Amino acid sequence: MSLLDDLHWRYATKKMNGVSVQQEKLDYILEAARLAPSSSGLQQYKVIVISDKALLEKIKRIAYDQSQITDCSHLLVFAAWDGYSEERVSQVFNYMMDERGLPRDTMDGYKDTILGLYGPLGQEWQAHHAAKQSYISFGLAIAAAAEQKVDATPIEGFLPDKLDELLQLKGTGYKSTVLLPLGYREAENDWLVNMKKVRTPKAAFVTEMTIADAAVLSDLPVMQSLGSFTRK
Ligand SMILES: Cc1cc2nc3c(=O)[nH]c(=O)nc-3n(C[C@H](O)[C@H](O)[C@H](O)COP(=O)(O)O)c2cc1C
Repeated sequence: MSLLDDLHWRYATKKMNGVSVQQEKLDYILEAARLAPSSSGLQQYKVIVISDKALLEKIKRIAYDQSQITDCSHLLVFAAWDGYSEERVSQVFNYMMDERGLPRDTMDGYKDTILGLYGPLGQEWQAHHAAKQSYISFGLAIAAAAEQKVDATPIEGFLPDKLDELLQLKGTGYKSTVLLPLGYREAENDWLVNMKKVRTPKAAFVTEMTIADAAVLSDLPVMQSLGSFTRK
């Protein structure tokens, strides 16, 4: 099966059957999520795994009563940083440099640059930026689940503030962003299972451009090369 076959197979499962997902499959999906690229390699998010039925019952109540929350095998909660700080960014780069056997100050120029750029944009922008990174990981988890023939429902329909309260995320520097219940479809009770997959036609989705289509800008900025911030 190719990736495209897997993506055709998957759908946002509406009814799951409560069957458990094997640990190896769960680990594979989590590993794909962990290997996702992120802006500056900061991995400004993490994944919380919940299979405790009593906790899932509570989460369902703040997720518009969506049955996949309790009929799944495992619920993945993606949670992203609530902001950038010198301490946080340094911690990641120090770890990265240690793992690569490089001096800890290798990335200092780059670190100062991103903190200088993100700082003035405020915490709301920063939390949004971190949340966007978590969606890349979320997307790879969806694809990996499809490859493992594990059903998954992307879920944004929940109250993030309430979930953060329930999971005691407040004060940890993380905010929940999106949910992914993993499990298996109960096809006979799922209205979506046999529906045609509908997407924007390719001609409308993909646009090719050349210089002839671009605007003439007289004020293109002269920017310092990003490479000049990092050690060669
Ligand atoms: C970020 C995101 C949030 C979503 N939230 C929900 C949700 O709360 N409940 C739900 O049943 N489906 C949800 N969906 C599923 C979409 O409706 C679905 O992916 C889309 O209609 C395409 O259909 P398909 O995934 O079956 O191919 C969400 C999808 C994404 C990507």
